[in-house]
Amino acid sequence: MGDLNISDWIKNFPANFKWGAASSSYQIEGGYNIDGKGASIWDTFSNISGNTSRSETGNIACDHYHHFREDIDLMHKLGINSYRFSISWPRIFPDGRPDHINSPGVKFYDDIVDYCHQFDIEPIITLFHWDLPQVLEDQGGWFNPQTILYFERYAAWVSQHFSNRVTYFCTINEPQIISNLGYHLGIHAPGRHLDKERTITLLHQLALAHSKAVTAMRNSAQQDIKIGFASTGRLCYPHCPKGNALPLSSDIEAARSAAFTTNEDSWTFCHQIFCDAAILGKAPDFSSIGIAPWDDCETLCPAIDFLGLNIYNGSEVTADASGNPLFTPHYTGFPRTALKWPVTPAVMNYGLQFIYDRYHLPIFICENGLSCNDVVSLDGKVHDTNRIDFLNRYLIELGRAIQAGVDVRGYMHWSFTDNFEWHSGYDERFGLVYIDYPSQKRIPKDSFYWYKNLIREYKML
Ligand code: BGC
Repeated sequence: MGDLNISDWIKNFPANFKWGAASSSYQIEGGYNIDGKGASIWDTFSNISGNTSRSETGNIACDHYHHFREDIDLMHKLGINSYRFSISWPRIFPDGRPDHINSPGVKFYDDIVDYCHQFDIEPIITLFHWDLPQVLEDQGGWFNPQTILYFERYAAWVSQHFSNRVTYFCTINEPQIISNLGYHLGIHAPGRHLDKERTITLLHQLALAHSKAVTAMRNSAQQDIKIGFASTGRLCYPHCPKGNALPLSSDIEAARSAAFTTNEDSWTFCHQIFCDAAILGKAPDFSSIGIAPWDDCETLCPAIDFLGLNIYNGSEVTADASGNPLFTPHYTGFPRTALKWPVTPAVMNYGLQFIYDRYHLPIFICENGLSCNDVVSLDGKVHDTNRIDFLNRYLIELGRAIQAGVDVRGYMHWSFTDNFEWHSGYDERFGLVYIDYPSQKRIPKDSFYWYKNLIREYKML
């Protein structure tokens, strides 16, 4: 196998692999206060001056609310067979309560789903990508049992309404980031600064909401549906020698252990706290951070069908003489994205293997990508060679994970279009499609055509 040739690797990808792209409601939709939509915590947070870069907001964003047909036309041109997007809870239920339905909001998502189907693009719905109805936050948010109850009902409604046309659903996107950036560090909505114990309790509430939603969705579905959630957190990989030599098994085991160790460095950003509870029904071990374990984990883990992973980078680990993990410092000039995140493709191979060995669930890459300093060149095109190189490298490693036996079902590139990157505003461009915000013009980047060719090649296999 030509190790550096992605064309050789995709031959090993499973049949019916879902090649897709992803987005989220607040980051692209705009239309923040029209057609009956209620406010979300992100509407409130980003409209407070100083909370985001240059105080930018998602009020208009990519105006996907009015451009969704154009965007899906482009998805068709790209050739993807799946599209992961999220529903804005307050666009459907403006005050969070599931008894007051906003019909224009429902129509918007109906139209998206139906238009995707016209092009054989499978819609994958995320219920919650961070835009909690503001009224619910005002009443205590996730700490109030009523929010959990309303989420359960919202989930049941979405499943009942869409399951004749949608098979795949994610409940919550990245509970880890919600609790850490939103409720502990306060740089995301709702901008709280809870202590460690309350933050962990918040995470527990999200696990509870997820579990209630799974059961409610199964009970309300019109047909068999597949449910998961999108997790993120620290992942590690062993030192990989240059050439074809394999990593030392001691380094592999040290990387595995470092990936799942809960300590002062990792308690906010790790897979195992949420996933052990929600998938294995196992109480996370908080002894190293001095917090009592959750005592109801066996009730938090209704069966799910897949695990969604959002993977951007990882940490290299070696073993010391006693087998303990040592994190390798980055050398000077280590490759980084525009956001200064390290480029570490090997995480896509070893990280997946570690996760799969622990949770034994089919895996969807729900997000992977990078921000680049993309510009429109004089020729009117966007030459994002860094993104193409990144995609190449990470997808080859995904191929290695598949070869090693990991059951990977799909890859959703983050993101389809450039969009509102939370507290970084519009500084960061993650899209395969460039957005010229003043004109709302869409310009497919070079990576769009690269990805298109790859998908076409796969289809011809
Ligand atoms: C989130 C996305 C975000 C991306 C890049 C993920 O944490 O789910 O909403 O845009 O990372 O930061």
